[in-house]
Amino acid sequence: MHNFDQIVHAASLAFAATDDPDVLEQIKASYLGKSGQITELLKGLGKLPADERKTVGAAINRAKGEVESALNARREAIRRMALDARLAEEALDVTLPGRRQSLGGLHPVTRTLERIEALFRSIGFEVADGPEIEADFQNFTALNTPEDHPARSMHDTFYLQDESGGVAPGVLLRTHTSPIQVRYMQAHVALHAGAETMPEIRVIAPGRVYRVDSDATHSPMFHQVEGLWVGQNVSFADLKGVIADFLRRFFESDDLQVRFRPSFFPFTEPSAEIDMAFMSGALKGRWLEIAGCGMVHPNVLRQVGIDAEKYLGFAFGMGPDRLTMLRYGINDLRLFYDGDLRFLRQFA
Ligand code: PHE
Repeated sequence: MHNFDQIVHAASLAFAATDDPDVLEQIKASYLGKSGQITELLKGLGKLPADERKTVGAAINRAKGEVESALNARREAIRRMALDARLAEEALDVTLPGRRQSLGGLHPVTRTLERIEALFRSIGFEVADGPEIEADFQNFTALNTPEDHPARSMHDTFYLQDESGGVAPGVLLRTHTSPIQVRYMQAHVALHAGAETMPEIRVIAPGRVYRVDSDATHSPMFHQVEGLWVGQNVSFADLKGVIADFLRRFFESDDLQVRFRPSFFPFTEPSAEIDMAFMSGALKGRWLEIAGCGMVHPNVLRQVGIDAEKYLGFAFGMGPDRLTMLRYGINDLRLFYDGDLRFLRQFA
């Protein structure tokens, strides 16, 4: 009598030795396939004497059944292992805190600039822009500040280097937003060339400006907002009205005073510094300088091709950084540029 148990045992071991379903099917073939061990045994039955055939046949069939159930058990085990592995891989820990999308916020100076733009737009001003790397001509010469003019030393200018490391002639980081006045007037004149009367210019120009300077109230990069109103009938009284009205609306208070203190700028005549003081609160009665201004110098109008006999205007350049400090009670300008989120988040 054959010991079919050995075959069953060997098959079980072979099945257990693999966890690859394809390999498992190959092993199956070597037992149950066309010329597999069990199949061969069944084929051999015919050669046995008739009296043995029945019992041997039954034993082989039993062995076959056992091999098949070992195979099925292994198939199921491999399937479950694969499933477990996939589940582990794709596991989702629902107790982990979610990844939040943090919202950005506007920088306090940006908030101020947007506020200034909105207020001036509401009284009919456009908003203009200009390059931060500026030509010497627009930054100085066209603003009635020719080369060797002593007023050039009022600005500690950053000049640019050329390829050989020397000073690049005629280019600099703009020291104020006034060159945008020049560019805007040049474009306006070109646009209305030949017209009998040129439409009024009413524009503000916010932007970054640069000077060699750094302490609690000065940063080498800071902001200005330029204002320009040119027409046939624009006066210093209009300038005072526009500025006073703007400041009251900006600070949402009528409880402030504005004064114009005589000053000098090459591109305005007469020129003034604009100071303001709150009439109540912590800063009560302290005069704070917030802008330079004046009537546009006829030489500036001539430089850009505007008839200085027919047109006149006013200009101002104010410091939105200072306005932001006053509005939010900030005492160190450098906080704006340190990028410290503890500071910045307070405005988000
Ligand atoms: N550009 C001047 C400055 O930066 C400010 C100013 C602008 C003064 C316009 C008068 C008119 O100091």
